[in-house]
Amino acid sequence: MSEPRIVVVGSVNMDLTTSVYRFPVPGETLLGTSFATSAGGKGSNQAIAAAKAGGDVIFIGAVGDDGFGRELRQTLNAAGVDTTLLRTVNGPSGVAAITVDAHAENNIIVVAGANGSVTELTDIDLDAIANADVLLCQLEIPIAAVTAAAQHARSNDTTVILNPSPAQGLPNKLIDAVDILIVNQTEADQLSSITDRVEHLVTTLGAGGADLRSRDCAVHADSPKVTPVDTTGAGDAFTGAFAVEWILDRTRALHFACAAGSLATTVHGAAASSPTRNAIEALLESSA
Ligand code: RIB
Repeated sequence: MSEPRIVVVGSVNMDLTTSVYRFPVPGETLLGTSFATSAGGKGSNQAIAAAKAGGDVIFIGAVGDDGFGRELRQTLNAAGVDTTLLRTVNGPSGVAAITVDAHAENNIIVVAGANGSVTELTDIDLDAIANADVLLCQLEIPIAAVTAAAQHARSNDTTVILNPSPAQGLPNKLIDAVDILIVNQTEADQLSSITDRVEHLVTTLGAGGADLRSRDCAVHADSPKVTPVDTTGAGDAFTGAFAVEWILDRTRALHFACAAGSLATTVHGAAASSPTRNAIEALLESSA
């Protein structure tokens, strides 16, 4: 079968990550143990994860006209993501200030920068969405653009997967256009009033695996056991891999995505941590 065509409409950030033994309390100064910059942003992370999992991926979003913007575009290209529809706008790229503690947990603050300029879709963007198997969106760009993309996908039989992160109120016309909602447990609680309205609901449970509730069945997959060093981007690795496998073989999409999420926690950084298709298959085989 040919590679699933995935269009991601979403964010791309430079992640500024500090490692600490524990998170500071308000007003406290702590000494960190290391610092690194690396490509991130939920949209870009999911695009890279989908490409590494075997998808043919186009990314629609925006970077600033700064050094971070050039580096972020290069990282997407190097992962095999088509960046023809990635705009460069005046001003700074998006950034995320991330703190990771000794238990591999994180805190993240995102400043949108160029991501905030993604308010409209061009005719070429809309054509790409109409020709895709899957549209994959998150909520780090203006919700009007996400809604327009989802509605266009729905009316062209492109499967719409929404990872509503960071969680916020969703307009009815967006909810009505979504086929698959992928949430973590916090987002599931925050959006509990609408989760029944989607055809397929995936709830990620971290090391506990994930649940899929469809109209006619419910499935659970365990996460293969690994030793985590950084959970940043693990949900994005899960989502990108899920989107690809949903098209190739939906009966194993949840297990495949759980393996991708587990592997992502074993490597520092967000985009760089998403595993290749071969690595996912190898983990699934060794943990069967
Ligand atoms: O999901 C992880 C991502 O959230 C990070 O890469 C950061 O940029 C924020 O978007």
